[in-house]
Amino acid sequence: MHRLPTQCPQARRAGESLVACFTGTYASRMPDRTWAGHLNYRGPPVIIWLHDHRRVERQMSEKTGLSQDLKAEVEGLVASDAPDEEVLNEAVRRVHDAHPLWDWSGIYLMKGGVLVLGPRTAPADHDRIEVGDGVCGTAVSEDKNQVVEDVREVENYLACSIHTRSEIVVLIRHEGEIVGEFDIDSDTVGAFSSADEALLEELGEVIAPRVASLAGA
Ligand code: SME
Repeated sequence: MHRLPTQCPQARRAGESLVACFTGTYASRMPDRTWAGHLNYRGPPVIIWLHDHRRVERQMSEKTGLSQDLKAEVEGLVASDAPDEEVLNEAVRRVHDAHPLWDWSGIYLMKGGVLVLGPRTAPADHDRIEVGDGVCGTAVSEDKNQVVEDVREVENYLACSIHTRSEIVVLIRHEGEIVGEFDIDSDTVGAFSSADEALLEELGEVIAPRVASLAGA
């Protein structure tokens, strides 16, 4: 075991192969869905973790209930007195922050039979999407979540960023009707798993009344 060169508490807790903390984006996703980077320093490669405590905490708790933590946080937001837009902006931000591979996250609202861009982490080119168009519109027309491994293989894909490689769209239903959808893009191919889909479905159920309310506003 290597000696820890820093006092980073997350580094200590993360296990034997972890030797340093690191600030920045130099990292890659490991098969077990943790984040690590490789650094050659006077010896064999060693694993370093992003010195971003919030993300590290979330990654470490992934196996032991990330989804429960996040769900509880979002439930708290939904139960608050804050206006719909504020609640959903914050929910999107927290969902987004929990996943380092997620490069753009947003919610499209179903308004008058068209998908209209709602709370999101950054502006996007497509602020109105017709049912049947793109990945987002296809989810509604097929009444089915979409998990796209590589957007370059989707014929009717609507590009919001040239860097996007994979995308997930998870429908949000309220009282049996589609009221909106989560849309998340990643610059990495195959960034989304069925676990991500399940998590977003759960969160979708929690925020559905707020989404319905904002969509109807
Ligand atoms: N790619 C989406 C459009 C929305 S942007 O990704 C934000 C689609 O094909 O529907």
